[in-house]
Amino acid sequence: MKLIFLGAPGAGKGTHATKVKADYALPHISTGDIFRANLKEGTPLGLKAKGYMDKGELVPDELVIDLVKDRLTWPDCQNGYILDGFPRTIKQAEALDSFQDIDAVINLVLDDETIIRRVSGRRMCSCGATYNVELLGGKTTCEKCGKELYQREDDKGDTVRTRLEVYNRDTAPLIAYYRNKNLLTDIDCNGKSIDEVYQAICNELDKI
Ligand code: AP5
Repeated sequence: MKLIFLGAPGAGKGTHATKVKADYALPHISTGDIFRANLKEGTPLGLKAKGYMDKGELVPDELVIDLVKDRLTWPDCQNGYILDGFPRTIKQAEALDSFQDIDAVINLVLDDETIIRRVSGRRMCSCGATYNVELLGGKTTCEKCGKELYQREDDKGDTVRTRLEVYNRDTAPLIAYYRNKNLLTDIDCNGKSIDEVYQAICNELDKI
């Protein structure tokens, strides 16, 4: 299955892609994670992306498209993959169409107020685990590995609102783009637990 997870920042793309990866044995390709890993290693790509990411702006299309095109040629993508955070512009979607056929687009729908609360409350661990302060009960360390949790730079202050504006301006048009191709399924995430959202996603994936 070749899948795209679409949704605003904090809608739950990473949370649910991680679960699909485990249950459906598909690689989870998050362009945000790739940029953050490059930044951590201090690569030229990471350093170029940092300025855009810290401001909540999109990294230029030309930097992202070639990166994904190359990643999808890796052997682990032969039987499919989950794209999380790509495409994010019509130009990226058109580029993807030129080298891949997508089976389904899962669009996670969540209201703006909840998005801002979730992103501002997100805490990360360097092992890859993600938490939310509202569910941590005051704990500041990772349940899986015990390391201290931290907040992503772009989850702080006004950057969250900028990311939402950028999403509405540049990425939301992809909803109509994929709906017109009969590939898009909306998953309403409002008022739903992670397990409830995941069950709704699995119900859709099991039809493919
Ligand atoms: P990226 O890392 O892709 O960030 P994003 O799209 O803003 O998405 P997030 O990671 O913030 O959210 P998510 O939907 O994965 O939510 P999560 O599952 O963590 O991109 C970062 C930056 O990189 C971009 O701003 C841009 O600069 C650059 N970039 C990346 N790709 C690019 C591209 N293609 N083109 C150009 N630039 C690009 O969930 C959020 C929180 O909510 C978590 O704490 C989670 O535990 C909690 N949660 C989830 N679901 C539920 C639920 N049902 N109930 C309660 N809590 C929940």
